[in-house]
Amino acid sequence: MKYNVCGIVGLIGEQIRVSALVEALEKLEYRGYDSAGIAFLKDRKLNITKSKGKVENLKNQLQDRLNEVIETGIAHTRWATHGEPNDVNAHPHSDCFCKISVVHNGIIENFRSLKMRLQELGHNFLSQTDTEVIPHLIEEHYNGDLLEAVRKAVLKLEGSYAIAVVHADHPDIIVGARKGSPLIVGVNGSTKGLASDVTPLLKFTREVVFLQDGEIVELSRDTVKIIGFDGTIHERNSVHVDWSYEDAQKSGYKHFMLKEIFEEPSCIVSVLTGRIKNGSVVLEEFEPFEKTLIDSKSMKVIACGTSYHAALIFKYLLENKTNITVDVDVSSEFRYKRINLKPGSIVLAISQSGETADTLESVRLAKKHGAKIVAVTNVVGSTLTREADCVLYLNAGPEISVAATKSYVAQLVMLYLLMLRANEILNDSMEQNSELIDRLMRFPEIFENSLKFADKIHELARKYKDYKHFMYIGRAYGYPTALEGALKLKEISYIHATGYPAGELKHGPIAMLGPDFPVFAIAPNDSLFPKMKSNIIECRSRKARILAVTSDDNQEISELADDIITVNSSREELYPLLMAPVIQLFAYFVADELGFDPDKPRNLAKSVTVE
Ligand code: AGP
Repeated sequence: MKYNVCGIVGLIGEQIRVSALVEALEKLEYRGYDSAGIAFLKDRKLNITKSKGKVENLKNQLQDRLNEVIETGIAHTRWATHGEPNDVNAHPHSDCFCKISVVHNGIIENFRSLKMRLQELGHNFLSQTDTEVIPHLIEEHYNGDLLEAVRKAVLKLEGSYAIAVVHADHPDIIVGARKGSPLIVGVNGSTKGLASDVTPLLKFTREVVFLQDGEIVELSRDTVKIIGFDGTIHERNSVHVDWSYEDAQKSGYKHFMLKEIFEEPSCIVSVLTGRIKNGSVVLEEFEPFEKTLIDSKSMKVIACGTSYHAALIFKYLLENKTNITVDVDVSSEFRYKRINLKPGSIVLAISQSGETADTLESVRLAKKHGAKIVAVTNVVGSTLTREADCVLYLNAGPEISVAATKSYVAQLVMLYLLMLRANEILNDSMEQNSELIDRLMRFPEIFENSLKFADKIHELARKYKDYKHFMYIGRAYGYPTALEGALKLKEISYIHATGYPAGELKHGPIAMLGPDFPVFAIAPNDSLFPKMKSNIIECRSRKARILAVTSDDNQEISELADDIITVNSSREELYPLLMAPVIQLFAYFVADELGFDPDKPRNLAKSVTVE
């Protein structure tokens, strides 16, 4: 499973200049861009420059050194997950003597316990990052053999990582290691490199080696040595890649949107990482607010667009599982209402970007009325995170496409965790939770399997792409799913699509249906399927074509729908998550078939910072 949170790169060779490292970093900037840094060896001295801000900022600081020829170097562009984006938290990170320098992509789950142990051994730490434990671990195990020291260090790490390491006493090598995050080696004679993806290597080679999990590589001008974490030698052949830069940034997918949908399994892993311990949900950041939730038995939720749809699903979840009342408002409406929040009450603000103006203004208004803000967001250091009292990070990595896909899936997983936690503290229903937790833990694999239906959905998109109207319908959890499906289609294919509660069709909208107005029915085999069945029959009687998304245990749907997409059968509260890739892929393929660019839809911005 790929895990792209930051970008790392390392180069070694005869005529490597500082500018080559910076250029390589620029090719990775799409992966994360809140801070950047570089460490290079020249005359056995380790030179480190790093700062908050984009690579451009780093380049300006290196202005008078760009042309210098160096022995070797590593560089990093960061998408923060632990610790604010600032100069101290930027990579590379070093050991106590500034002889070892490390760049890292991923999350070290056990960094707190490692950091405490290393501090007891006398190591001094400068940053809030998880990464900083790595150079100190290597220092602890270093006896002259850098490769062996890295091998012993990574055996202590839990979580996911791809790292590159240099040492002032070893100007002739770079060491890399990977577990759970991509790391690729590029080879061209005496010039060798390693990077988070192919993009920066294409400048000097198309011969690459994709390292596997549990492998460590030592690069020198003359050799490429790969070993396992157990020290055994691994023989790996290089492969030839003929991707363009653009393709490489998308890892070969046609658009970022498609790549990001296929990253959803790893996003689920990253949201769950460190948040389920001994079968129970642990949301440390939220602990100070649990008592308020228990006492007030209420929560206000504000959000926009796709995040609003996630909020609506959360309302169904929490109200079905606990006696907490959830009141959801579109941020742009909440701001102009008479606010009747009790001081100290909880307001959950959901925003992938953390920069949506309507949501930020709503947060400020709620705070004026004494509310406590709990933020669910994907961007560390975003405005929302600085104004919230508590932040639950999605850690889903940068979402480049304007259409929210993996961030929506990550939001849903985070909201399931919040519901499970509320359920635990209010109802003490551990074993009901444990079944849901077990299912959530299996979702990455289920997603990997269900994404195999992409070709079938592409075929349906070809069939339905010329319709000018769509009616998406669903009930309960299926209703916000219908809203989200309709939004996805609207925003990237520009086709009119309405999301509607299925039970409401007869109160007006059914008048519009006919042979040229198909219905996209969210119809899993859940407690309300009998009702959905009659709604679908109503639509069919108006000659509307029916495209149904259902669960694979639904025996009746084949007589009702013209076309069917099935997902794994599951608990009804989990269908919004299971069906997310279906509604996203359908919209994506329709837009692509119509010749539009789903990553840059007309009139839209990735974060709506205007009101
Ligand atoms: C979703 O596909 C849209 N791009 C848009 O509706 C988005 O969800 C909305 O602008 C909210 O963004 P936020 O989550 O960053 O606050």
